[in-house]
Amino acid sequence: MKKIVGLSLMLGVFSIVCASDAAVEALAVAKCGECHLMGEITKEKLSSMKAPPYWAIAKKAREKYEKEEDKIKYIVDYAFSPTEDKMLFPRETKEKFGVMPSLKGKVTEEEIRMISTYILEKKF
Ligand code: HEC
Repeated sequence: MKKIVGLSLMLGVFSIVCASDAAVEALAVAKCGECHLMGEITKEKLSSMKAPPYWAIAKKAREKYEKEEDKIKYIVDYAFSPTEDKMLFPRETKEKFGVMPSLKGKVTEEEIRMISTYILEKKF
């Protein structure tokens, strides 16, 4: 009996974790997916990219910052106030896509934090 209770508890926790993962992915797609490739990769998304894909952002953050908090801070700060001098991407990125517009008022800090964690945790 104990085993069954333990197992169903574990399954319960597992599905909650999975559900929230999916919710954060949906949030990332809704808030950033218009330009950045987020979530499921499809041919259509690849051909209509208006910005570097999320894995490129994660790579830049990992190369530049060691601490998890600093990586998240960089993404949050950039999403609210993107400027050319803060760019970690090279000149060509700006020439190809332009500088990102600020998302102030369109997304909350809490949401960007969740999206950042999602981007950074994804294994590529
Ligand atoms: C309207 C289009 C658009 C949306 C929406 C958008 N971005 Fe961007 N983003 C860009 C473009 C274009 C670039 C590449 C140029 C640049 O770095 O500014 C970029 C670059 C970035 C970079 C890298 C900056 C650098 O060069 O170091 C980060 C981080 C980023 N976006 C985060 C986000 C997050 C998080 C969201 C969603 C909350 C988001 N973006 C939504 C267009 C967008």
